[in-house]
Amino acid sequence: MKIPTVTLSNGVEMPEIGFGVAALGNGKAFHTAMEAALENGYRMFDTAPFYENEAEVGEFLRGCGIPRQELFITTKLPNACHAYEDTLKAFDTALEHMGLDYLDLFLIHFPVPSVGKYHEAWKAMEKLYREKRVRAIGVSNFQEPHLQKILDTGEIVPQVNELECNPYLTVRPLCNFCAEHGIRVVNWFPLGGPREPLVPYPMDDFKVLLDDPVMLRIGAKYGKSAAQAALKWAIQNHITPIPKSSNPERIRQNCDIYDFTLTPEELAEIDALNHDRRLGPDPNTFDDMEMG
Ligand code: A2P
Repeated sequence: MKIPTVTLSNGVEMPEIGFGVAALGNGKAFHTAMEAALENGYRMFDTAPFYENEAEVGEFLRGCGIPRQELFITTKLPNACHAYEDTLKAFDTALEHMGLDYLDLFLIHFPVPSVGKYHEAWKAMEKLYREKRVRAIGVSNFQEPHLQKILDTGEIVPQVNELECNPYLTVRPLCNFCAEHGIRVVNWFPLGGPREPLVPYPMDDFKVLLDDPVMLRIGAKYGKSAAQAALKWAIQNHITPIPKSSNPERIRQNCDIYDFTLTPEELAEIDALNHDRRLGPDPNTFDDMEMG
């Protein structure tokens, strides 16, 4: 299966679906999943130092036999490295860990507004981009005020904003803002995330997106699963999902979504499931310096 690409605002081609490796670790399950992903046509791999598999992603992809230029490799800037020089150093460290001589996409992982240095980090990202050490630069978990500050103080508009987003958390105004500025949205937790709340963020009335009767019914109409319907919803909204799975059959399924199209009514019905249900940290207040 060849996954189509989309063209970022700077002309770089990025796969329309990526493979998220958060929570896959770096052991046997990680290797099985990476093999299944490559076999099924995934070429975009999204890691971060915090996922504890940045080095293994690099090692695996270097040895996988696919030419480097056919791969699209993303990693992120840790929260503790927003000072200008620290950003430059963190980039070098990432390349060293991964054994690569360039990245396809480098993202500021979180804005960390309480530290307030993300615009300084952005200046360093711009330098790396101008030096052609990275093909595209972007941000992650940035809300409208953070993006506005980058637009006001920076010279390059981010090519990507990677966000927690799915039919339960559509963040429509933020996605519209990104679209207006030519910023491609990539969504993490595109399947709604884990089947229970994350440990530090308890929640009442927790619902599982993939068990939602609307998602199941719309998927079934096309002989597809709720997961496939959620991924198609993202793509039809010009969002690039990075589903995570450790299971080869589900990895296959998650890119087998090119033989059906959701109707405008179905897209609207899925949109109506939104209840701003965030499972991950609130990017406006999150300032964990271990993360990134
Ligand atoms: P598993 O690794 O056992 O497949 P997200 O991408 O939103 O973070 O969702 C990941 C969660 O969804 C994981 O728990 C993953 O579990 C599960 N998952 C991934 N793909 C599918 C699928 N096609 N159907 C059902 N569950 C899936």
